[in-house]
Amino acid sequence: MNIAVVGIGYVGLVSGTCFAESGNEVICVDIDRERIEALQNGHVPIYEPGLEELVRRNLKERRLSFTTELEAAVGQSMVSFIAVGTPMSADGAADLTGVLAAATGVARAATGYHIIAIKSTVPVGTNDRVRELIAQSSRHRIDVCSVPEFLKEGSAIEDFMRPDRVVIGSTSEQATAILREIHSPFLRTDNPVLVMDPRSNLASTQRSPCPSLRDQFAQPDG
Ligand SMILES: NC(=O)c1ccc[n+]([C@@H]2O[C@H](COP(=O)([O-])OP(=O)(O)OC[C@H]3O[C@@H](n4cnc5c(N)ncnc54)[C@H](O)[C@@H]3O)[C@@H](O)[C@H]2O)c1
Repeated sequence: MNIAVVGIGYVGLVSGTCFAESGNEVICVDIDRERIEALQNGHVPIYEPGLEELVRRNLKERRLSFTTELEAAVGQSMVSFIAVGTPMSADGAADLTGVLAAATGVARAATGYHIIAIKSTVPVGTNDRVRELIAQSSRHRIDVCSVPEFLKEGSAIEDFMRPDRVVIGSTSEQATAILREIHSPFLRTDNPVLVMDPRSNLASTQRSPCPSLRDQFAQPDG
């Protein structure tokens, strides 16, 4: 599958690289030109065990590329994962400027049905906000979903490649099926995909969740 990842910090770089390692064609987009140029040359700006080797292998095998050109990346993809930073603003709330800008850019650049999958950590209500914001930005159908990231720095590759569970916030069957397919190589048979509605009430799971999971993932997206 052709995938764009927007925001190539810790989460975006690990996610994009692992998606490429599992056989997808991944274009990674960031507004930081220096960062992108370094990555194009196989220089990884963060230290994470095993990451540089994976980046270099997937670059060489042409499943992974890096660009500052959002439009071209999205135009060639069906799914865009948004992994831009959400720093705390003065009032303590997550600053969604980057997420909203990236989502609008993706919607404008989509050339057909497209999924915006938000990986950034965002408050409840963000998916609705994004949906409203982009409503007039594209003549194509755009599904807005949430796939929150739980990786830890230091074991990020392992966490991404062997997650305990994958949480998908979605109301679209088509988007859910595509996101499941993208994550299927990372899931061992007994690990669940938890599908929830956009405001994250537990809607369905591949197997029955225990109550603590319901509590833990009560609000994965907005
Ligand atoms: N780092 C972690 O361990 C971790 C774990 C889980 C979730 N998260 C969440 O994931 C999100 C990303 O975290 P991170 O640590 O990777 O952030 P980061 O600060 O390392 O990277 C964010 C990247 O986004 C880029 N960016 C900002 N605005 C952009 C735009 N409009 N278009 C394209 N690129 C843009 C920046 O240049 C930067 O390279 C945050 O919401 C964070 O809370 C982080």
